[in-house]
Amino acid sequence: MYLTQPQNYFFSDAAFDNLFPVYVQKLSTIHWTPINVAITASRFLNSSMGARIVDIGAGVGKFCITGGFFNNGTYTGIEQRKNFVTVGNKVIKQFGLDNVTLLHCNFLEMDISEYTGIYFYNSFHENIVLSDSLDEQVDRSAELYELYTNHLLIQLKKMPVGTRLATYWQSIAEIPGCYRLRETHYNNLLKLWVKEY
Ligand SMILES: C[S@@+](CC[C@H](N)C(=O)[O-])C[C@H]1O[C@@H](n2cnc3c(N)ncnc32)[C@H](O)[C@@H]1O
Repeated sequence: MYLTQPQNYFFSDAAFDNLFPVYVQKLSTIHWTPINVAITASRFLNSSMGARIVDIGAGVGKFCITGGFFNNGTYTGIEQRKNFVTVGNKVIKQFGLDNVTLLHCNFLEMDISEYTGIYFYNSFHENIVLSDSLDEQVDRSAELYELYTNHLLIQLKKMPVGTRLATYWQSIAEIPGCYRLRETHYNNLLKLWVKEY
């Protein structure tokens, strides 16, 4: 049951936050993608019929929900914190978004080669700056950062030519040279890439 039209929840980040419990709202400013960034990134990733987009480290699904609300294509979020998956999937159901799913798993268990587009908001950062952690629920360490980042590099390198990638707050040095930077937005924080070889 909505207090307003569903699209009104996408007018601002504060409006979107209202869909979630207070502890999730408190993480919003730093840890969830702003609505305007999610709209720009999801439009870029949703470039062809039948686009299949994955968000590596999806949180409560703000990127996936926004992308799935405004675009065709499917949006799958991979998230290691179970409570985020539970509250996110509840909102997805409320909106009736059949094209959006959040999966509870660790990225290390995932092969993302079936997807045509990838979204990545510097998800492993909490392993190297512990003060930026979302909470204490999961293990965090420099070793895990290395493990996750290496897995990401391996996955990115084996994606087919033409794969689209959107990174937010991510260093260029961590993206393989086979991806060409096509566009930047929001003071270079959002970078849009295409795999060329
Ligand atoms: C910065 S938040 C981004 C959330 C979401 N992508 C968004 O833009 O709104 C990063 C998320 O990645 C998740 N995460 C970090 N490492 C992960 C891993 N190895 N596997 C799955 N999820 C992970 C964290 O739990 C956190 O919810």
